[in-house]
Amino acid sequence: MKIKFLDLLKQPITNSYLKSLSKKVLKKEFFYKLIVLFDTSNFLVTISQPLDPKKQYTNKYAHRASQSTTMKKSFKIIARKLQLRFKPKTSMEIGSNDGVFLKNFKKNKIIAIEPCSNLAKITNKQGYLTYPNFWNKKLAKKVLKKFNFFDLIYSANTISHIPNLKETFDSINMSLSENGVFVFEDPYIGSVLKMNSYDQFYDEHVHLFSFIAINNLVKESDLKIFDVELLPTHGGSIRFYVCKKTGNHLVSNNVKKLKNKELRQSLHKILTYRKFAKRVKKSKKELISLLIKLKKKKETVISYGATYKSATIFNYCNIGKDLISYVIDSTKNKQGKFTPGMHLPIKSSDNGIPDEVRYVFLGAWNFIKEIKKKEIRFIKRGGKFITHVPKVKLV
Ligand code: TMP
Repeated sequence: MKIKFLDLLKQPITNSYLKSLSKKVLKKEFFYKLIVLFDTSNFLVTISQPLDPKKQYTNKYAHRASQSTTMKKSFKIIARKLQLRFKPKTSMEIGSNDGVFLKNFKKNKIIAIEPCSNLAKITNKQGYLTYPNFWNKKLAKKVLKKFNFFDLIYSANTISHIPNLKETFDSINMSLSENGVFVFEDPYIGSVLKMNSYDQFYDEHVHLFSFIAINNLVKESDLKIFDVELLPTHGGSIRFYVCKKTGNHLVSNNVKKLKNKELRQSLHKILTYRKFAKRVKKSKKELISLLIKLKKKKETVISYGATYKSATIFNYCNIGKDLISYVIDSTKNKQGKFTPGMHLPIKSSDNGIPDEVRYVFLGAWNFIKEIKKKEIRFIKRGGKFITHVPKVKLV
């Protein structure tokens, strides 16, 4: 049974930055209701109305994974680690974005899948064969006509975006060599509960994974988890190591440890999610009242990072230009546009936080270390960051 536990109200498509605020553009803006469910039979947390992926992953997709040095480093490390541990002869990446992971492989040793054709174009140009398609059974069959089974399939921040997990995992099983491994990582629901980071829910995050949920789901596709890791990336992620049910990989101790930890934390009980929903409401109240207090003091507040996550916060808390004047971001194709739903102007972060600004909301709170390093001047002159994780506070 799927039980509703969180209502994040009307939300836009997070990747839809607006070029202008003309009547025509505003009329076209798409909204949906963001409601989050817990499935009591397999423990999966899912949004109630996944959007049509063709609306989300278009040829105008804005996010570039290689924008962040934190992510670049982390992909380099995992690529090396996987090559050493599994020595794959053939590899595939699902959801290759701008090639930040691929770059760590020889061009003839890996192929990629990336439905956003503007991104697939980038990696195809770099010489990495990239299929500009969605991952599903049809595509898996097409790929297998040309290539052998894969020793390694890797995917970061993509599997949780796909509504049909059964078909996804079945297609993975079809594509793996006998002892091939499927390694994938996505934001972790355990971290969301701990950090109160409700902004991890947005249109692209169709599911938020726990170990116990994925363990149930991969079994249905004759796969098994043989190792698992918790990671600091994206504010807390989980990396699964999966092989065929008959694969010869020994099951690591991490598997049992994490399963027990999640059961102790009651990630299999609806009550846990209901309590979280209460904390989310409290967080909203506190953030709004802090921003109103600063406004009364005539402070200019801006936001750092035109992130997808912050779109959830601004729309859920109804934070518009009256409370946050604008957003700064280093991504060229976000600059000069407006954030989805609340329409905050996006400016360049190239020159750092302007001198007249003393308060900055951390839209990209998961990159706080990287941002602090860049913004030493702001910190030295007494500037304060506002965060909502794990509680609304100034840092
Ligand atoms: P993400 O959390 O969805 O990966 O998005 C991070 C956004 O934050 C992305 O648009 C780039 C932006 N950003 C900056 O503008 N400056 C920075 O220093 C960092 C780390 C990110």
